[in-house]
Amino acid sequence: MRKGILSLLAVGVLATGGLTACGDDDKAADPGTGGNAKKAKIGVILPDSKSSARWETADRKYLEQAFKTAGVDYDIQNAQNDKAAFQTIAEQMITGGVNVLMIVNLDSGTGKAVLDKAKAAGVATIDYDRLTLGGSAAYYVSFDNVAVGKLQGEGLVKCLTDAKATKPVIAELNGSQTDNNATLFKQGYDGVLKAKYDSGEYVKGPDQWVAEWDNTTAGTVFEQMLTSTPNIAGVLAANDGLGNAAINILKKQKLNGKVPVTGQDATVQGLQNILNGDQCMTVYKAVKQEADAAAKLAIGLAKGEKGATSQKVTDPEGKREVDAVLLTPKSITKDNVKDVIDDGYVTVAELCTGDFAAKCAAAGIK
Ligand code: BGC
Repeated sequence: MRKGILSLLAVGVLATGGLTACGDDDKAADPGTGGNAKKAKIGVILPDSKSSARWETADRKYLEQAFKTAGVDYDIQNAQNDKAAFQTIAEQMITGGVNVLMIVNLDSGTGKAVLDKAKAAGVATIDYDRLTLGGSAAYYVSFDNVAVGKLQGEGLVKCLTDAKATKPVIAELNGSQTDNNATLFKQGYDGVLKAKYDSGEYVKGPDQWVAEWDNTTAGTVFEQMLTSTPNIAGVLAANDGLGNAAINILKKQKLNGKVPVTGQDATVQGLQNILNGDQCMTVYKAVKQEADAAAKLAIGLAKGEKGATSQKVTDPEGKREVDAVLLTPKSITKDNVKDVIDDGYVTVAELCTGDFAAKCAAAGIK
């Protein structure tokens, strides 16, 4: 049944492609498109540039590279955490003639509105990194986000075990409650931590969502946590930015390095916090793989082809299965920071500045 709908959709895309090409022929303006081939134009909307460095330093860069290599026209814009701007950008892209729109939603509600508009205009859509609940994207390209959370939970357990912590009180700084990924990360780390809470090995402390992944808010939230619960002995922070906010508060009490803190994204700041001993781990997601996979599917869709994916995710709200690419995340501690460098995600010049030169050398990074 679902396959039937998909092939209908695929036919729809092909038919639209044909019509567009005819339109172009009528105007006889674009001999470069070669008769009935559809000219690909891909629009990408990134969410912001503050909740994580990745969007501008990694995603934009790798997507650009992939589109340039394929020789397709593209437009990548950043909504800077503004939902109204997000919708305006989408509308401009649709009127501007994109035939594929790839979004990282700011929340499912506004994401869905954009996807629906695109669909009505015959534009194919991809959910990039974040699934839009109740949405209609043809594909979802991301990492296994429950696995990301599991690595964070296991990483925290390892650091606490190494530190011989007894009955540690754990604080949880979750991401934005409107980001489905944050829910999945929490599912992953709570899956690890719950057993420890239940057995009495760990004590469950404060547990809060950080609206919009805002790092300043995270600092305020964590300061309140530490005031109300001064014996916090481990911090499950959902990404490097939230982790850094917690570390800054711990520093004020000279508790940095004593209370392990987790992270995600292998940002330069997160990796430096790891080299300093202030952060216990981060999760590296090879964004190049994610961008390449999404670009490949987008280019296919732009040409009216339906690419093959081997995975599916269930959208619990829309109650539909979405064709997906889910990549595998990797845990990074002081012992393997080098792997992130070797993969080309962060350069020695970025990481090993000033005082970090010696710390890099000690970690085998040249
Ligand atoms: C992404 C993370 C990122 C966070 C904040 C999540 O949806 O998967 O990599 O740190 O958003 O931008």
